[in-house]
Amino acid sequence: MKAVILVGGQATRLRPLTTNTPKAMAPILNTPFLEHVFRHLHRHRVSDIILAQHHLAGPIEDYLGDGSRFGVRVTYVIEDSPRGTAGAIKNVEKYLDETFLVLNGDIFTDLDITAMVDLHRQRGAVATIALTPVEDPTAYGLIETDVRGRVMRFLEKPDWSQVTTNMINAGTYVLAPEVLARILPEQKVSIERETFPLLVDSDEPVYAYPSSGYWMDMGTPEKYLQLHRDLLGGRSTWHSLASPEEVRTGERCTIHPTAQIKGPAVIGDDCSIGPGVKLVGPVVVGGGCTIGEGSVVEDSVLWWQVSLGERVVVKNSAVANDCRLDSDSLVEGSVLGNNVTVAAGSRLETGSRCEPGATV
Ligand code: GDD
Ligand code: MG
Repeated sequence: MKAVILVGGQATRLRPLTTNTPKAMAPILNTPFLEHVFRHLHRHRVSDIILAQHHLAGPIEDYLGDGSRFGVRVTYVIEDSPRGTAGAIKNVEKYLDETFLVLNGDIFTDLDITAMVDLHRQRGAVATIALTPVEDPTAYGLIETDVRGRVMRFLEKPDWSQVTTNMINAGTYVLAPEVLARILPEQKVSIERETFPLLVDSDEPVYAYPSSGYWMDMGTPEKYLQLHRDLLGGRSTWHSLASPEEVRTGERCTIHPTAQIKGPAVIGDDCSIGPGVKLVGPVVVGGGCTIGEGSVVEDSVLWWQVSLGERVVVKNSAVANDCRLDSDSLVEGSVLGNNVTVAAGSRLETGSRCEPGATV
């Protein structure tokens, strides 16, 4: 089976993490997000993946290559201007011949794709949409179904006054090739605002596949951190640690005997953790990080090559690649893009967002 992954969005809500890193390459437990998705698709016997890209395409191709490391074949298609979620699928039509999958490129989920495809076939659907329950449907595509699970209405980003259910579009679809004929070529078209409502209004068989498996749209820094808390806390079937106390350490790390590490924690390769350091899980330390004497990192995600001086405190924060936090600085409730320098003694408190390269 083939799958199209939509990775062409600008990811503005995830800035500054995604100012110069594609959202699809943001590390989740030290592994780029798309690699998790590729492995999930491979488990469900997907053989070919088409990446519909627009923004920051290079790093994705550099990392994933032809896909053979993950047991899949990858085709890269770059839109010269963003085509929207349906236009992007229409744009890769020549690679699609039979029933195929479409995935939003920012969803982390345990969804049982095999069962979803089976349901699609049993129902003779033209489209099957995965659903998940959420607390605030106004940030998503609301979906109303009848008792048999047939989709009666698709309403993207409803007002609270329009909310009739907590079930929303979970961003994974099984589509019959006939759907492609309902999308105008060479145009910007939204599958949520145009194609799905069109199919429903024309009485085409569109079905829902409700899922109670783990699901997270990592669209904002808060959700990115929550995804880590969830995975480290054991809420995903596939990606969690063996136990909430586990400390998973990479190769060639130097950890001083007086450092205290309380799981859940994932530490990458080539890290140096100094005397008296405290890592308090959930915490992720990327490859090549240095944590100086007496520093504390708690409930946070550090990307690669982050360097902390002495007595630095990082809490409830995400710190991207190559940042330097000098001695006695504090970073709390904050998000730092690549290459940020936090000067000695500086305090960044709740809500700070630092764009790449900044010195604060
Ligand atoms: N190739 C391409 N071209 N991809 C695009 C484009 C485009 O023009 N525009 C958006 N995408 C990709 C994004 O990169 C993302 O992976 C996916 O399409 C969805 O776009 P988002 O911008 O993340 O949408 P959203 O999160 O507001 O809402 C969508 O996801 C929700 C679930 O998380 C909708 O599908 C909602 O209905 C859904 O509930
Ligand atoms: Mg999204």
